[in-house]
Amino acid sequence: ASLQMFVDQLPVMPRLYGYSNEGNTKPKSGNLVVGMFEKKWKFHRDLPETTVFAFGTSPEEATVPGPTIEAIQGVPMSVTWQNHLPESHILPWDPTVPTAIPKNGGVPTVVHLHGGIQEPQNDGHPDAWFTSNFRETGPTWTKSTYTYPNVHHSGSFWYHDHAKGLTRENLLAGLIGAYVICNPALDAALNLPSGPEFDRHLMIFDRSFSRDGSLYMNYTGNVPSIHPQWQPEYFGHAIVVNGKAWPYLKVQRRKYRFRIINASNARYLSLSLSNGLPFVQVASDGSYLPAPVHTQSVVLAPAEIADVIIDFSTSGTTEAVLNNDAPYPYPGGSSVDQLNSKVIKFIIPPEKPKVPDTSKIPSSLVSYRATATVDGAAKTRYIVFYEYRTSSGDTTHFLINGKKFSDPVTETPKSGSTEVWEVINLTNDDHPLHMHLATFQAIKVQALVNEAQFNSCMIAKNDAIACNVGSYVTGKVTDIPPTERTWKNIVKIPPGNQTTVVVKFNLVDTNSPYPFDATAEPGYVYHCHILDHEDNVMIRPLKLVSGSW
Ligand code: C2O
Ligand code: CU
Repeated sequence: ASLQMFVDQLPVMPRLYGYSNEGNTKPKSGNLVVGMFEKKWKFHRDLPETTVFAFGTSPEEATVPGPTIEAIQGVPMSVTWQNHLPESHILPWDPTVPTAIPKNGGVPTVVHLHGGIQEPQNDGHPDAWFTSNFRETGPTWTKSTYTYPNVHHSGSFWYHDHAKGLTRENLLAGLIGAYVICNPALDAALNLPSGPEFDRHLMIFDRSFSRDGSLYMNYTGNVPSIHPQWQPEYFGHAIVVNGKAWPYLKVQRRKYRFRIINASNARYLSLSLSNGLPFVQVASDGSYLPAPVHTQSVVLAPAEIADVIIDFSTSGTTEAVLNNDAPYPYPGGSSVDQLNSKVIKFIIPPEKPKVPDTSKIPSSLVSYRATATVDGAAKTRYIVFYEYRTSSGDTTHFLINGKKFSDPVTETPKSGSTEVWEVINLTNDDHPLHMHLATFQAIKVQALVNEAQFNSCMIAKNDAIACNVGSYVTGKVTDIPPTERTWKNIVKIPPGNQTTVVVKFNLVDTNSPYPFDATAEPGYVYHCHILDHEDNVMIRPLKLVSGSW
């Protein structure tokens, strides 16, 4: 039997402020303490309680997702992330993938502010993990309190665990939360729907549950002789929004802003509304679009974010279901079924709201100073995604450029520079590319011809130039959707194509250098944000070097 849909109300996560306003003075830096706790969480009215790992200021206050942290652009803050987790994990894991394994037990965690621009020591490096009460720390751990300068322009972000080889388990267990950087003057000028009622997060992930309420994750790998537990993708049956499976939200007949975050381990979402209402997308992960884009569907890879306006005043119906029809794996996998094709139901009253809606959708939004062009790029790099299989065709692991995480660093851009990354996907599936620190956008997607021939050359030589890559990248050019033409921290890399990405190692809103030393140890990482791929082992070091600005 499956759970009844739309019986739980959409929760609003608690909000923590990384600044304080005393009187009318300039906001002051805040210092937060956020813990990670094991606790029980109710995902659905009719499902027994589930043991989860949750972020919060105390075990009672902890939630899945964790509290939404609000920061102000340019106002630094600090967070002491504390691990209060038990001696052993609530989910199965796999020691044969490169994993943080403490000598004395405990669950290793380390928190990354996804999309944030912060020094390497504060970035949540996968080897900077720590166990309960900092009893044991990983090889690159240096500090227990992270500082966030919040120098990124205003936008929607999130934070999550990043421990080596355990990221898929720790996020599945619940260690995620939303993060917002506000620019009060810009927000007031844009006059988009605002305030806790009309500016909301929808943090969406898929999960499977056992009958007793516990989170279900496979105990056996797809090739257990090589990896006893690891499987190439986790897909859950239920769709959970802000910690409730298939919730509902009673809205007013007016405009809302929804910050939609795909926090799934591996599932892509292709979202549309059952009554045909359009989305007006205003921002993608971390950045506004130059102008609003009206669209009937929004496709989000894992970790990708879309800020959309839905105007319920034009609804011809009193209900609208947010549907998902993304195949899994994406784009060539199985079709969604009844369960994972539904996300949330909006209940729309027939009458107009008592308080009129004074918010607007402006005709233009924000254009950043940096432009996405290959002109002036300091370097072009080829980044190639490989999938490895057994002779019977079962996936064993993934690599970027044929290299492991532990292989010496090869991507060493100059701080302040612009680079072009030609990202070639030789696998069957789409992969969401994520880079720490940098901001980037795709400017061209072009199909490979004779891919099999190119593939065998690459398997032999692992060198795109020696394999004469240009003679293969001559196929169909696919347009970059207007919703993705801005500075992002996740770019979807489709299979069988070369995606040309312009990468900025500076601040794109002012075109100025980072106001801190981005070249410090332990450096950054870039990776695929399908967590099962990231853990095994689609992740590489990214180490900035100093250069002339
Ligand atoms: Cu959202 Cu390296 O992670
Ligand atoms: Cu991947």
